[in-house]
Amino acid sequence: MDNKLIEQINENTSIVDLVSEFVSLQKTGKNYRGLCPFHQEKTPSFFVSPEKNICKCYGCGEGGSPINFYRKIKNISFQEAAEELAEKAGITVEKVAKQKDPYEIFYKLMNEAKEFYKFNLKNSEKGQEALKYLHQREISDSIIDHFDLGYAPEHSDALYKLLNDKGYQVSDMIKLGLVKQKDDGSYYDLFSNRLIFPITNPKGSVVGFSGRTLSKKDSIKYVNSPETVIFKKGHLLYHFNEALPDIRRNKQVVLFEGFFDVISSYHAGIQNGVATMGTSLTIEQAKLIKQFTDSIIIAYDGDEPGMKATLSAINILEKVKLKTEVLTIPESLDPDDFIKAYGPEKYEGLFGEYLKDPYQFRYHYFKKGKDLSNSNDITAFKNQVLEMLAYADKPVQNIYKNRLANDLNVSPDAFEIKTKKQPPLPQNDVLPKKEVSKLANKYEKAERYLIYAMLRSKNDSKYIQARLKTSDFVDHVQSTIRILIDSYYKDHELMDVLEFVNSLTSEQREYAEHMLFKDILWEHSLPIDELEFDQLIGLVKNANLVRRKAYVKAKLDQDDYKNDVLLEEYKLLVKVK
Ligand code: GTP
Ligand code: MN
Repeated sequence: MDNKLIEQINENTSIVDLVSEFVSLQKTGKNYRGLCPFHQEKTPSFFVSPEKNICKCYGCGEGGSPINFYRKIKNISFQEAAEELAEKAGITVEKVAKQKDPYEIFYKLMNEAKEFYKFNLKNSEKGQEALKYLHQREISDSIIDHFDLGYAPEHSDALYKLLNDKGYQVSDMIKLGLVKQKDDGSYYDLFSNRLIFPITNPKGSVVGFSGRTLSKKDSIKYVNSPETVIFKKGHLLYHFNEALPDIRRNKQVVLFEGFFDVISSYHAGIQNGVATMGTSLTIEQAKLIKQFTDSIIIAYDGDEPGMKATLSAINILEKVKLKTEVLTIPESLDPDDFIKAYGPEKYEGLFGEYLKDPYQFRYHYFKKGKDLSNSNDITAFKNQVLEMLAYADKPVQNIYKNRLANDLNVSPDAFEIKTKKQPPLPQNDVLPKKEVSKLANKYEKAERYLIYAMLRSKNDSKYIQARLKTSDFVDHVQSTIRILIDSYYKDHELMDVLEFVNSLTSEQREYAEHMLFKDILWEHSLPIDELEFDQLIGLVKNANLVRRKAYVKAKLDQDDYKNDVLLEEYKLLVKVK
């Protein structure tokens, strides 16, 4: 999609109308304002300018052109946002240019299946029973719609037939775990007489299903879609895409164990909830959360298995440095049961009073059920606490050393903590060797860090541009990217990295994806301060001088120092040192 077309789409989309779909706006003079949908606030700092056709939050900095706003609020790509808005504005765009997701057909198929299950919940006789079951569990129709709940008919091939009629390949239905083949060659639907929970990926496409039994006799409570190319349980979280607007607003996510905990909590007003699907939390899931927020509440069941699972989740979350709190639900209840027993208000109240930090939680958990007059129990307790403290900061270590000393009636000096550092996160993709050695080059790194700063802030970009010549960057791709960033800011206040990357040539994009965005400085948005800027700029300049000196010297050697101009320069360069 070229810049002209992007401009045309932006110009033909009223920012006021678009934002109004998500935010309630009030007019103030020439502009409108409302509560920012990207962060939580009580006084509105999200401004919309019809004149400039842009929006911006003065609290968190989010906003931009219509396409940018839409992309962020829907968590879709720039391309997708542009296409959707183009369609709304009646502008035809060539979709062929779009990088096709190879699994597009699978998402379509899964979406058809979702619609089929939804239809059956409301329109079949047995579906009515499932609906009654949901109503019994106090789940309302609007909640059923929000979660797209459905019903799979018993011993049926209706889904197979429907998909077949619509022209889908049976091999795809089998690949996605919706349909199976019998010995006699005929096909049948995998999910049978089950309540259906569609599971989406972070972009919102349906990638799998979980089916809950409706019969008490069934020993298998939930059946999940098998692992497929699009359904990897360890990488996904239930209700993640749907909760994203609330996760953004609250700057926090709540992690549950069960589907019904997510659903009842949603009903009770806790709408930023997600769940794993019967397995322990993985590092991939933690990283996914970390992309959108820094803060998480674990709200697992209050029973022993729930606490064990909490313990293992804390260990994972510590690795990605998420700020973690634990909701401890009284009476060993799970969130769903608690809401049923005490009502939504008491439940929301728990999120104030009943939150523990991970150290408090673990300390209590380790202590619970131990006999502190028994030497084995004492040793076990002590070791568990000291192991926990190995990764903690000094102040935390001191607090718990004292607490332990108090509980065991000894001096805090009796404990020695072997402080450990969290090992670095395992990288998903290992960089090719050549690039690793390049990464190690401090000049290249300085250039790259300056690029991060430029990508993050127009002001910093100006600062850097004013101090470095184009030729100061040695890496030619970095040098061009730097120029492109500068020109991007000529007509943008804020950098939209995706949009920017989309405008690059494939060589530049390759570089950006493999080098730029692989650095943890970028991945974790670590700040670079101004002092550091000057050092980095100094490094780049120095590297340039060294190169220039070598070049001039080689030239002079070549023609016996006859070139006066070069000789003058060389003398100067040597002086600068
Ligand atoms: P209810 O018992 O109806 O309230 O459901 P729940 O969602 O609260 O389930 P529960 O607390 O028993 O289990 C927590 C989660 O573990 C579920 O939401 C499922 O994701 C998963 N799970 C539970 N039972 C099974 C099972 O039999 N098989 C599989 N694969 N997963 C299960
Ligand atoms: Mn439950």
